[in-house]
Amino acid sequence: MVSKTVMCPNCKNQITIEVTPGNKTIITCPSCGAKGQFTFPMGNTVVRTTGGSETIQVKNLTKKYNDLKAVNDVSFNIREGEIFGFLGPNGAGKTTTIKAILGLIHTDTGQIKINGIDIKKDEKQAKKHVGYLPEKIAFYDNLTALQNMYFYAEMKNVPKTECKPLIIEMGLEDVVNKKVGKFSKGMQQRLGMAQALLGNPPILILDEPSGGLDPRGVALIRNKIREMKNKGSTVFVSSHILSEVQEVCDRVGIISKGILVAKDTVGNLRDRLNLKPKLVMELEKVTDDIINSVKKLDGVEKVDVLGVMIHVTCNPRAKSKIILAVEEAGGNILNIQTMEPSLEEVFMKFTEG
Ligand SMILES: Nc1ncnc2c1ncn2[C@@H]1O[C@H](COP(=O)(O)OP(=O)(O)OP(=O)(O)O)[C@@H](O)[C@H]1O
Ligand SMILES: [Mg+2]
Repeated sequence: MVSKTVMCPNCKNQITIEVTPGNKTIITCPSCGAKGQFTFPMGNTVVRTTGGSETIQVKNLTKKYNDLKAVNDVSFNIREGEIFGFLGPNGAGKTTTIKAILGLIHTDTGQIKINGIDIKKDEKQAKKHVGYLPEKIAFYDNLTALQNMYFYAEMKNVPKTECKPLIIEMGLEDVVNKKVGKFSKGMQQRLGMAQALLGNPPILILDEPSGGLDPRGVALIRNKIREMKNKGSTVFVSSHILSEVQEVCDRVGIISKGILVAKDTVGNLRDRLNLKPKLVMELEKVTDDIINSVKKLDGVEKVDVLGVMIHVTCNPRAKSKIILAVEEAGGNILNIQTMEPSLEEVFMKFTEG
């Protein structure tokens, strides 16, 4: 079985279906109910196998720029169908790692395989099913969005009919025929994402996809990543927007000064650091009595007061005792909320110093 995205000729809705190449397939559009019959050729479709095998393998990767080890003995594997978030401060080595995965730079040591194919031995074949959004995407300024997409479609040997729907999907319907030289950074980023999605690639590598995007654009990318995952694609995404990564990633890798300092699920990283949740309460009035009675409770680690809000870092089991103590000390609780430790806290802990 292979996965294929087609456009309904009636309502232009995009539909992703699983088909057997060579067999007739009848498709009913879920949006308008129109029926169509297709036969997909044997050689023209992107194969998505299932089984959770390693899609990207990075082993002992080192890249030096003069004396600087931009990437220092980094190893990780990304499984098929996984969303892997790659995090790290500015200059940590994220883009260098991504460029090495794609064979775009010479590396000092290490082995990289995509779908089992060594990037150094057969770069073209290894990258055949990879969609890539670079950190700085280059378009022809004097060509329109659609013409630029046609250029990339031709390079990737993808039908030109995919171009316009992808531009529209990325929210650029009003500027399809506008020259890219007049595009804002966010608009170029959206077009870059459309370019990366050409050919419905089973592996997506995105270097800071949210860079320069407004909240709507960020949500668009996040939803697209989710959609790709649902289709069984593998997504490797570097990001600074930690809350975004936290929401969509199965696992994260944290790189700091070229060294991969952590790789695990966000939940496991939190547990390893023993980060505690916070109980956040809004009170009518905060008094010393209230603060002192909370501070002396077992399981309470820290109490911060911000105006009429108190933030209590505590063992989850201490929550009900805290609420009781506040009320017994005369506090009137107007609002209450639990804040789980964020990826931001995990990130700060792993990259500090
Ligand atoms: N072409 C180059 N020549 C010299 N040094 C380089 C080059 N490219 C990157 N570096 C250095 O390698 C280190 C890692 O850079 P890289 O671009 O991989 O970081 P990054 O994690 O992607 O950062 P950012 O979040 O700012 O994009 C930095 O110290 C950077 O200055
Ligand atoms: Mg970078």
